Amino acid sequence: MQIVRRLERLGPTLAALRAGGSLALVPTMGAFHAGHLALIAQARRQADVVAATIFVNPLQFGAHEDLARYPRQDEADAALLAKAGCKMLWLPTVDDIYPAGFATTVHVAGVGDRWEGEARPGHFDGVATVVAKLLLAVRPDLALFGEKDFQQLAVIRRMSADLGLGVRIGGVPTVRDADGLAQSSRNAYLSADERARAIALPRALEAARDAIGRGGAVAPALEQARQALREAGFDPIDYVVLVDEATLEPLDAPGGTMRLIAAASLGTTRLIDNIAVKA
Ligand code: PAF
Repeated sequence: MQIVRRLERLGPTLAALRAGGSLALVPTMGAFHAGHLALIAQARRQADVVAATIFVNPLQFGAHEDLARYPRQDEADAALLAKAGCKMLWLPTVDDIYPAGFATTVHVAGVGDRWEGEARPGHFDGVATVVAKLLLAVRPDLALFGEKDFQQLAVIRRMSADLGLGVRIGGVPTVRDADGLAQSSRNAYLSADERARAIALPRALEAARDAIGRGGAVAPALEQARQALREAGFDPIDYVVLVDEATLEPLDAPGGTMRLIAAASLGTTRLIDNIAVKA
């Protein structure tokens, strides 16, 4: 695997890689867990050549979110990527992405405004801006993102379509622990007791999905899920809602392609999760 650290090496390295066929890009912020490796594995199935980026993007961190504490383990991540069959890792610097005088922000209205957009103001502007820059720099045929951050995936799909980036955006199913908890770097912050109670989140979503799938009314199914989370000690519960997959608009009744999304905190750790719903 080639590691690109200098921007001027990116073009020639990509040109050589493209000779190998279609190119998939997996943009990441590093600190890999099984979810990241699932992105690489799916990229390998869907494209001839796989490239990845690791860039801890300052623009998507809020003022109260600790950018300095974000885990950085580029060498260990690079070894995992190479073993997984990735052919290039680009490690841009902050100056590569945001050179002096950088003044452009990509804002995806609507789909990015609610839910995580409300909880983390400016977060999706940071995500949309950096992903647009990475996709324009690499120009892959396909870019893959985890379904774990479902709203992020919807924001990126909207942004890429609106800007005509000419890249296929793919989602990769969430990787879960054996008991069903979605894998996330944030799980490391849970105490043993919180980790045991965290399982209530996927269970509550599954129960609501099954109730709605059987034809039950949406509002009571969501209230039951919130009650299960309260009983497990989640506080606050930011949202448990049924939404349209593309627009993230809330649905009072089943219709179209649906997703249940939730965010709630256990102690100081805020967890998010989501699940597809078929009625
Ligand atoms: O999901 C992530 O790791 C990041 O938000 C992304 C998409 C790489 C943008 O920085």
